Amino acid sequence: MTTDGPLLEARGVRVEFTTRSGHVARALDGVDLSVPRGEVLAIVGESGSGKTTLARTLMGLAKPTSGQVLFEGKPLSHSTRAMRAYRRRVQMVLQDAAGSLNPRQTVYESVAEGIRLHGLDRSDEQGRSEAEQVAAALSEAGLRPPERLFLRYPHELSGGQKQRVLIAGALALRPELVLADEPVSSLDASIRGEILALLLKLRQDLGMGVVVVTHDLGLAWNIADRIAVMYLGRVVEYGTTEEVLTAPKHPYTKALLSVVPEIEHLEPVVLTGEIPDPTRIPAGCRFHPRCPARTDGTTDHAGIDVACRTESLPILPATGEHRAACHLEAALAAPPG
Ligand SMILES: Nc1ncnc2c1ncn2[C@@H]1O[C@H](COP(=O)(O)OP(=O)(O)O)[C@@H](O)[C@H]1O
Ligand SMILES: [Mg+2]
Repeated sequence: MTTDGPLLEARGVRVEFTTRSGHVARALDGVDLSVPRGEVLAIVGESGSGKTTLARTLMGLAKPTSGQVLFEGKPLSHSTRAMRAYRRRVQMVLQDAAGSLNPRQTVYESVAEGIRLHGLDRSDEQGRSEAEQVAAALSEAGLRPPERLFLRYPHELSGGQKQRVLIAGALALRPELVLADEPVSSLDASIRGEILALLLKLRQDLGMGVVVVTHDLGLAWNIADRIAVMYLGRVVEYGTTEEVLTAPKHPYTKALLSVVPEIEHLEPVVLTGEIPDPTRIPAGCRFHPRCPARTDGTTDHAGIDVACRTESLPILPATGEHRAACHLEAALAAPPG
């Protein structure tokens, strides 16, 4: 079943919502993204950049208005049957652990739910009973001894334990990819590291791929192999973690990085204003109204300020070498003359 191509891919994905006032919000405005097998990919960006919409679209929970999501090179089918088969292979861990667990369900029941839904409750491929599968998943998620938690209810668990139960529910199906949306943002700093270490262990011990959605570049630095930086519905920079975080190309990435405490930097760059509403995506480079390279005269000096304001950039292919969707970057890479 293994092929050489990426496990999961987004090609030119657009997702539009019509707001109550009748405006069209382009939450995703042309995203190319490739998720290799067995790697940790971080999708980073400020709140409102489209990360959750992208994660939901990759999961088949939201349908692209145009463009495609491909799994093993085939377009995702949204039929119930196809979705069920897909869910076994790609699982999502949601943002809010406390809100995602049913308060009336024991830990055992919530982990067994997926196993039953996929008809694995009699036995799985390895001939394990339902209880053995639940115990194994809890234990892999770091809840040991697992039997002690079987009959607990969510209100009896700490935030970190709840997040581990959710991860166990995903692991129970032995997926090839786990998509985690802000997996630690609601947790205390003290347990964040443990949950991140757990996500890393999934890749190391079980060979699973992980897509982690986060607004926190420090987190991406700690666990990701590759990073896609999003701004207002597009990927604006893509590369290995090393490339993106030690030699960022996009002024947006540079600004985000400049305020990450874990990473050494010079002057913090304060971004002016807020991320615009996706019903009003700026013309030209979508980042130009907030771009520090325009404020400090760099783009003027390079003779590209008009381009920044008026010329849109092509969709960034989020695969292969390190790149950024930025007129300045293009000008620096290929100086005129
Ligand atoms: N169902 C929806 N209806 C209208 N707008 C939406 C909907 N979902 C998301 N959006 C808008 O799309 C943009 C991206 O949202 P989201 O994907 O949640 O970003 P992020 O996860 O990066 O914070 C936001 O401006 C948000 O308001
Ligand atoms: Mg989000």
